[in-house]
Amino acid sequence: MKNKKNKWEDHYSRKAKKERFPARSVYKLQEIQKKYNIIKKGYKILDLGCYPGSWLLYAADLTGGRGQVMGVDLKTVSVKTPPNVRILTKDIFSTDDEIKEFIGTNYNVVLSDMAPATTGNKGVDAARSFNLCEKALEIAQKTLCSGGTFVCKIFQGEGFINFSNSVKSGFKIHKIIKPQTSRKASKEIYIVGIDKK
Ligand SMILES: C[S@@+](CC[C@H](N)C(=O)[O-])C[C@H]1O[C@@H](n2cnc3c(N)ncnc32)[C@H](O)[C@@H]1O
Repeated sequence: MKNKKNKWEDHYSRKAKKERFPARSVYKLQEIQKKYNIIKKGYKILDLGCYPGSWLLYAADLTGGRGQVMGVDLKTVSVKTPPNVRILTKDIFSTDDEIKEFIGTNYNVVLSDMAPATTGNKGVDAARSFNLCEKALEIAQKTLCSGGTFVCKIFQGEGFINFSNSVKSGFKIHKIIKPQTSRKASKEIYIVGIDKK
């Protein structure tokens, strides 16, 4: 079982390397994109928790030169990105003007793949993930155009149902997806809100 899991992980890590993505997590967004076609040419996209940059690169390619991708992360993204990508290294909870001005408004899609530093305590990790998700949803509510899409990773646990219901009430279509490329043992799951009310 362990060997099988490792082989499976290696496959996606190797594939990411070959396709020049800095992380295998790109295939989770790819799966969501294939299913719901959320990113289109010319779209303005916000990527919260964008380090090391694979969602940035994938979204930048999909939206193309007329589109724009803005990324925020605590960590500095070092991967080379195309000209339609801008990045701010900052805590999403920061209250200063720089982050507000950088993010701006009028997004077609807000993505959050943010994850807390895990402690191994599932309750603590889920609570921290829930905090990040609430912040991501607050930003999405403020910055998405009407009809926009929100994709958010959450660790299943306390808070999950509440958060899922909050997304449900803010968007006309609500989906929950566990990408096949997500590790089976991982508690992560993605909530998708389509067509902001
Ligand atoms: C799983 S990684 C994202 C991977 C990314 N989607 C990719 O494909 O390259 C999660 C990121 O969330 C970021 N993060 C966690 N808490 C944050 C916060 N408070 N503000 C900004 N970023 C945060 C972490 O620094 C980490 O880089």
